[in-house]
Amino acid sequence: MTELLEVTDLRLSYGKLHALRGANLQARAGEVIGIVGESGCGKSTLASALIGLPAEGAALSGSIKIAGQEMVAASAASRRALRGDRVAMIFQDPMTAFNPVLTLGDQLIDFQHRSHLSRKEKRAKARDMLASVGLPDPDLALKRYMHELSGGMRQRASIAAALLVSPDLLIADEPTTALDVTMEAQIIHLFRQLRAHHHGAIVIVTHHLGVVGELCDRVYVMYAGEVVEEGTVDEIYHSPRHPYTAALIACDPMHLEVTDQRLPTIPGRLPDLTNPPRGCAFASRCVKAAAICAEPPPRKRLSPTQAALCHRIAE
Ligand SMILES: Nc1ncnc2c1ncn2[C@@H]1O[C@H](COP(=O)(O)OP(=O)(O)OP(=O)(O)O)[C@@H](O)[C@H]1O
Ligand code: SF4
Ligand SMILES: [Mg+2]
Repeated sequence: MTELLEVTDLRLSYGKLHALRGANLQARAGEVIGIVGESGCGKSTLASALIGLPAEGAALSGSIKIAGQEMVAASAASRRALRGDRVAMIFQDPMTAFNPVLTLGDQLIDFQHRSHLSRKEKRAKARDMLASVGLPDPDLALKRYMHELSGGMRQRASIAAALLVSPDLLIADEPTTALDVTMEAQIIHLFRQLRAHHHGAIVIVTHHLGVVGELCDRVYVMYAGEVVEEGTVDEIYHSPRHPYTAALIACDPMHLEVTDQRLPTIPGRLPDLTNPPRGCAFASRCVKAAAICAEPPPRKRLSPTQAALCHRIAE
């Protein structure tokens, strides 16, 4: 079975800062993938590269294939086309996706510019999509400006905007972080429904282990611009093998399904990404660090679905 998303040795630098240092991941149609890791480890950088919108001036190399089509080497025009047809993003701050001086209705019509429907049909489709993401009174909402909507309504509207293009790949960067607990629970519920109906792949970036436990099939754990462990939710939560993952999951895994489970903080800090260490980037914080860890760690395959980047794991 071919992968819908295949990322190989992805590297991205902002000037001297190496934000992605050889990230690898895959997603198949129907899968929901979680990306976790502490602040600054490169999650949003990865998400923006996947949508074909790395920050201006960022140097990108490696490979991102979406439905077999290479994005990194593609021209700006074909990246734009791919973004319109196949990939959509839901941001932490839903305002990012919208223009404050246009009504929601006008923008949801504009988002469908590649469709051959009439303006009236596009408006009807936008209305139906708003209804399906649970926005109360969608006809009225179409006439609203973004500042007239609550945070939860904006995030629902941004999810509707992303779904209007029927993307193969839907990327959500911290979709619930800016919301209060009640809104967060509602958006998680909406994602659960999406999961059941969306036939493409969904990639969710989050600090929230409860969200991953509730929504994802597989998890990628990032640290200092690398994927240090990947596995099914069950493998990552119940038998984490990389010391960083183990530290994240150190609390009772039985309780990870509850919605208030945030990433715990681990003593120490990320290494300086302008001068990353040659060996393991986690060494200065790792309880298992040894002399060998000054060498670049190997990626060890632990099961058909689990792998970790560490010297000190018995295979
Ligand atoms: N546009 C940019 N220009 C320069 N440096 C950047 C830019 N965006 C991110 N960085 C740096 O790249 C590194 C990775 O940042 P990124 O935003 O991808 O992390 P993150 O995992 O999403 O963090 P958070 O959990 O806080 O959102 C950080 O050191 C950050 O300061
Ligand atoms: S390679 Fe060494 S320092 Fe890095 S995680 Fe493994 S044991 Fe810890
Ligand atoms: Mg981020």
